[in-house]
Amino acid sequence: MVPRKPPAGDMAVDERFDAVVERESAAICDAYRISAERAASIVRACLDTRLDLRQQIASAGDESSVRRTAAYRAFVKAARRAVYYALRRYREDDEAFAALIDALADAEEREPPASVEALATELRRRHVSTAEREPHLDAFLAQIDEEMDAACTVIDVGCGCFPLSLSPGWMARITRYVAMDRDAACIRALEAYARATGWSGLEPRRERIGERPWSDFQCSFDIGLLLKLVPVMARSEPDRLGDLASVPARRLIVTANCGAMARHTSIRGREKRILDRFVEQSGRAVVRSIEVPTEFGYVLE
Ligand SMILES: C[S@@+](CC[C@H](N)C(=O)[O-])C[C@H]1O[C@@H](n2cnc3c(N)ncnc32)[C@H](O)[C@@H]1O
Repeated sequence: MVPRKPPAGDMAVDERFDAVVERESAAICDAYRISAERAASIVRACLDTRLDLRQQIASAGDESSVRRTAAYRAFVKAARRAVYYALRRYREDDEAFAALIDALADAEEREPPASVEALATELRRRHVSTAEREPHLDAFLAQIDEEMDAACTVIDVGCGCFPLSLSPGWMARITRYVAMDRDAACIRALEAYARATGWSGLEPRRERIGERPWSDFQCSFDIGLLLKLVPVMARSEPDRLGDLASVPARRLIVTANCGAMARHTSIRGREKRILDRFVEQSGRAVVRSIEVPTEFGYVLE
């Protein structure tokens, strides 16, 4: 016989805390793009710091009776805020990301040798931007294949971990791939990848957009990649959009996200308006559109 769940009033104190964590993390999972495990860990950490509320739950006959208190409402608000900010970060776990970079850096010395491809895939999965593209990566790459297949020089602005997605065929042909990002960890990952694969054309650069003029690169590139970057810049550094519009490349590939970073909400309409304004600002023509379930954009010339 399945043991009957005790009425709330009979629950041990720890079980009451568990019930709170379970209920609030389930509600968070309904609203936010987060795993049940990660939501529960954030909610529990938040509850652990709320000594007043813990006291109330411990002394209440029934934990449901504390749900209407100010302390409970403040706890729910704080947990949701913590989830929101955790989801706004590009990387969930800096230590795990760093450990993967170290493994990539000495892939050959490991016993047995670690697979460079497996490490690159894991790194991609640990950066939110490449992680959301991962289920549709082949479809996405197929849609930019025409440009990338013909390119010898590429500049990838705000690259994140995208260069870890390139096919061996492209890597063999692209003689110069400038990968630029302000994020030091991504740049370290790309440096380790360039060494591990022997791809001498990959040129990772830790730089902020607009830090120096494009003419310093002494190159007009075949392709400029601005993947999921324009909306980020439009929100955080709108004055820099002019720099992006003048990336020295024959063709630009610009994309944006269909879904919000934190919530289960479509932002496609809003992001499309931002991309369309950028296209106008660049003075370029749309050659064709790109669309996968999580991302959309244009090839511009
Ligand atoms: C949404 S992610 C896109 C990453 C990658 N392009 C992709 O699609 O997978 C935006 C990237 O732009 C970088 N970024 C944002 N502002 C930047 C700036 N001012 N200069 C350089 N990189 C920037 C971030 O560090 C982040 O890696």
